[in-house]
Amino acid sequence: MKGSFPIDKFRTVATPFYYYDTELLRQTLDAIKSETDKHSNYHVHYAVKANANPKVLRVISQAGFGADCVSGGEIKAALENGFPAHKIVYAGVGKSDWEINLGLDAGIAYFNVESIPELEVINELAKAKGKIAKVSFRINPNVGAHTHANITTGLAENKFGIDMADMEKVIEIAAGMNHVEFIGLHFHIGSQILEMGDFVALCNRVNELQDQLERHHIQVQNINVGGGLGIDYHHPNEVPIPSFDEYFRTYHKHLNLRPGQQLHFELGRAVVGQCGSLITKVLYVKQATYKQFAIVDSGMTDLIRPALYQAFHCIENLSNDEPKETYDVVGPICESSDVFVKAFDLNRCHRGDLLAIRSAGAYGEIMASGYNCRELPKGYTTEDFV
Ligand code: LLP
Repeated sequence: MKGSFPIDKFRTVATPFYYYDTELLRQTLDAIKSETDKHSNYHVHYAVKANANPKVLRVISQAGFGADCVSGGEIKAALENGFPAHKIVYAGVGKSDWEINLGLDAGIAYFNVESIPELEVINELAKAKGKIAKVSFRINPNVGAHTHANITTGLAENKFGIDMADMEKVIEIAAGMNHVEFIGLHFHIGSQILEMGDFVALCNRVNELQDQLERHHIQVQNINVGGGLGIDYHHPNEVPIPSFDEYFRTYHKHLNLRPGQQLHFELGRAVVGQCGSLITKVLYVKQATYKQFAIVDSGMTDLIRPALYQAFHCIENLSNDEPKETYDVVGPICESSDVFVKAFDLNRCHRGDLLAIRSAGAYGEIMASGYNCRELPKGYTTEDFV
């Protein structure tokens, strides 16, 4: 056992694999609940896109959270793993007819609608079933976030949402339809956001929009502010749980909710990010002219974040405490971008050592691919190793 890792048990299964510390996951869920319990109108829908491992989903659904889905597949995964339909919300710019039908048949809470053509299709499909679909409109608030350009979503240039300026027109169109019921507004400005000022900017936009709508006597039941709260990738041991108190306090302080209004959140990374690690084995230590490589048996196919977003993940050698040396930790994939980290200090590596690539619980296993005909990594939890 090194830190909280059952390393002897790790030796009994094939690498690479994801390991989820369910104790930390439960503590994280408790930390969220202790904040949201202060407000009877706050509801958290876990963003399934971050991690849809059934064992992880079960822990989250058992804790009473709802689910935020972006595909029919995610709706199925949520339903199969204990999330009740009335706590499932469904967003996405390109919903196929079968996915909308699935949502209608299951009786999900509401659709986050991203365009007028989509609204028309939902109305038609609901009509064919004799149902009324509850819809929220995803608004593009044109608010930037201090994060990587690939994971900023709330700018006018991004494909997501309906322009704030078109809002009243869209609400009017929905009012003229018999098979949709307009119930709320939805926003999401980006991911891995650590500056509360970005969320304050979103609150200000929501306040402006609500004031504008109220001048037209329009009031909504729900405000959904999406997710986006980041985690500390550099200090997974020191900061295993994000500061949910600061996050929820920001919304409480800056968002002017109307009496009776419900506030919905869609947190993904902040829920599952720190509880997951990718466990991989050192295959070779290769000395090059100016550096040494630790070549491991996992690659960008298992965890694509470093290659795709230049994301940093802390790495630990679980197998020994020998003095640290500097390595580029690289995978076996035939791509130069198959690098987890460059010039990183690790306890001296030997063939067969197990490394933990930390903070990989969100957007890790779920983004894995079979490129190079590799097998998808398995996911284990604490309970699998007792
Ligand atoms: N709601 C909506 C509408 C979203 O698009 C997202 C994430 C979330 C909620 C959850 O955001 P979170 O709380 O996890 O930040 N693959 C990238 C992240 C993509 C995020 C996409 N949308 C990464 O590995 O950093």
